Amino acid sequence: MNELDALVAGARESFALAATPADLENAKARYLGKTGRITELMKGLAALSVAEKKTHGAAINLAKQAIEDALGNRRQALADAELETQLKAEALDVTLPGRQRGQGGLHPVSLTLERIEAIFCSQGFEVAEGPEIESDWFNFTALNTPEDHPARSMHDTFYVEGGSEKAPNLLRTHTSPMQIRHAVQHVKCYRAALDAGLSMPEIRVIAPGRTYRVDSDATHSPMFHQCEGLWIGENVSFKDLKVVFTDFCRTFFESEDLVLRFRPSFFPFTEPSAEIDIQFQRGPMAGRWLEVAGSGQVHPNVVRNMGLDPERYIGFAFGMGPDRLTMLRYGVNDLRLFFDGDVRFLSQFR
Ligand code: DAH
Repeated sequence: MNELDALVAGARESFALAATPADLENAKARYLGKTGRITELMKGLAALSVAEKKTHGAAINLAKQAIEDALGNRRQALADAELETQLKAEALDVTLPGRQRGQGGLHPVSLTLERIEAIFCSQGFEVAEGPEIESDWFNFTALNTPEDHPARSMHDTFYVEGGSEKAPNLLRTHTSPMQIRHAVQHVKCYRAALDAGLSMPEIRVIAPGRTYRVDSDATHSPMFHQCEGLWIGENVSFKDLKVVFTDFCRTFFESEDLVLRFRPSFFPFTEPSAEIDIQFQRGPMAGRWLEVAGSGQVHPNVVRNMGLDPERYIGFAFGMGPDRLTMLRYGVNDLRLFFDGDVRFLSQFR
């Protein structure tokens, strides 16, 4: 191999060994720089004869060209490799779906509450809301609940600060206190008419909302929902309760052949009292009796606490559990799912 071939081979090898563009430029300087091997050879031509200049010059030019080509190739290869690493480092999957703002929706129990309100409003009821921190008076006493009733124990009721020892504050254990609150307000508006012996418009109201008890398992949560109903007038009977509640259940479950059963029961604030059970005729729960509400004719003591004369005013009340209605409607078997806040569960109701 002549000297020039060896030079070109050496250049190729050192270019190949250059791992970075900076290494490569250093290697280039050794061959093509001001004091590089090729440059030195070119300078050496001056001392040669014209004929030798021609042949040697041409050979050196060929070698220079070969070295420049090798340099260009290596530059390109290093640039390609750098781009490749950069692309890998900044890997971008253009097939991924874009980031969107998640679409929210109403909680299943809220959907039920809206449904309950719409159905009762269509039957001439209004909707009332009241405080979740209640006084012992509205929650128990005004509702004819005896001083020693077990529901009043710390075991069942969350007592909160405020109020006095005799009249403590608590988290309402049911929505029934809204019977008193709403009726008292209603009666206040018609006090003058009532005192003059005139009659007042009927009280027809539902009161949905959160309620609290010291209780927690698959079917009980310390916070749950109730919806109270109250209908008071001069001529309201248990028959009206049956008609209204039957119509409500059939509309709510979209099931015309749904059957209701009023099973005798006891509540301090109603007399007589009944537990309301429903029975589906079709579907997975067909034939089973399912309890959905408590109800009854409003107790005379409660009517009195509303500011009305129980000899003249009579009516009925009911209290149902919207959580349970939601479980039945959607086939949910664990109440806690409603309150865990798991979006995978909740998004199914969007
Ligand atoms: N407040 C009762 C409870 O929490 C439910 C209830 C029963 C409400 C009978 C009523 C009623 O209005 O008449 O268990």
